[in-house]
Amino acid sequence: MKCVDDFRLRLGKHELVPIVIGGMGVDISTADLALEAARLGGVGHISDAMVPTVSDRRYNTKYVKDKLKLYKYNVANTDKSDIQFDLALLAEATEAHVRNTMERKRGDGLILINCMEKLTMNAPKETLRVRLRSALDAGIDGITLAAGLHLGSFALMEDHPRFRDAKLGIIVSSLRALQLFIKKIARTNRLPDYIVIEGPLAGGHLGFGMDWAKYDLATIVAEIQAWLRTEKLDIPLIPAGGIFTGGDAALFLEHGAAAVQVATRFTVAKECGLPDDIKQEYFKANEDDIEVNGISPTGYPMRMLKNSPAIGDGIRPNCEAYGYLLDANGHCQYIDAYNREVAAHPGAKKIRVWDKTCLCTQMRNFDLWTCGHYTYRLKDTTRAEADGSYQLLTAAHIFNDYRYSKGDAIALPQG
Ligand SMILES: Cc1cc2nc3c(=O)[nH]c(=O)nc-3n(C[C@H](O)[C@H](O)[C@H](O)COP(=O)(O)O)c2cc1C
Repeated sequence: MKCVDDFRLRLGKHELVPIVIGGMGVDISTADLALEAARLGGVGHISDAMVPTVSDRRYNTKYVKDKLKLYKYNVANTDKSDIQFDLALLAEATEAHVRNTMERKRGDGLILINCMEKLTMNAPKETLRVRLRSALDAGIDGITLAAGLHLGSFALMEDHPRFRDAKLGIIVSSLRALQLFIKKIARTNRLPDYIVIEGPLAGGHLGFGMDWAKYDLATIVAEIQAWLRTEKLDIPLIPAGGIFTGGDAALFLEHGAAAVQVATRFTVAKECGLPDDIKQEYFKANEDDIEVNGISPTGYPMRMLKNSPAIGDGIRPNCEAYGYLLDANGHCQYIDAYNREVAAHPGAKKIRVWDKTCLCTQMRNFDLWTCGHYTYRLKDTTRAEADGSYQLLTAAHIFNDYRYSKGDAIALPQG
């Protein structure tokens, strides 16, 4: 029986342990978590979701406060179209996050940044261009294009000096999405360096409709493998979503995957950005405590714990401070839902909004507990303490469990 360590991921001149820790915004996949993956010879991700607020927290900057000051006049206004990001400041925040992370990198692994196209920021193209290019400027090893089809993203980087040397990958959930992408980028004469295939059991936003349960990761991987073969394209494939044990991972590698991308197991790592009390909520969760719902204003279904404080919370939209979900016309589905409830309950001190959530505020405050399908198995990966809480794990322990354990085995931490 094989284990993950019997395989290697080859990306250009790099030979890596084929374990990729997926990006988890907002700062759930911290620099510390990504750095551990790189130190151990694998691949880690930081996320570029809401980097200004991450920078304020980590590096004592005041991007959010300053932006709020600038747009304070608009806080009570239902029209948010005035709000714009200062592109120079956005570049500065991204560069600070990436540079600080890369300076601390040790070991032979890679650090990539997860970049979500769905963060439209009231100027989708301009802000995405700055986010991608400033990550390259600051020396990131590569960029994983996530959440959205990203059909124009390669073009936004095409004239950057690192366009051909940085690793560029894409996350897709279907063969069709991949075909569209490959067709669109043909003109740039550059293929993606890797393709993450994310199945329906992943955490965060899903690339499926509410019928996600009909789909199966292994089937999608096989379809994409077959198509690449007929097209004579040799691009490393990285399945993701529900790969919970080293044995699960080894099985995908035996069937031709180049690596696996995993995340849920690392939500209970000490290095993960979730506060420790919330990590205990992840440990405690049972299968029926988890749901896929439609409350994300991106329009994509999202998996989360049902007891997330974000669900039903009717907080006033914080676009003046954050504003990451504003589309090209300054709209966000949460603003519409919030305004509807305010109009329906005149004079009410507190309102509830059930159908949408203020994703920026809730993710920033760790009040939306997005998680993978197998979160309910996390309790089986550690030891319970005498007080009923669960022992947190180190990222290295989880990484090495994926790397060396065989079959259904999961290595428990030392007591
Ligand atoms: C808490 C959490 C947050 C996530 N956030 C993001 C994100 O911001 N962007 C993204 O592309 N994927 C995100 N994901 C998906 C992961 O990067 C990864 O592909 C997937 O969860 C792997 O499946 P697994 O969690 O079953 O191992 C998130 C996953 C989790 C568990």
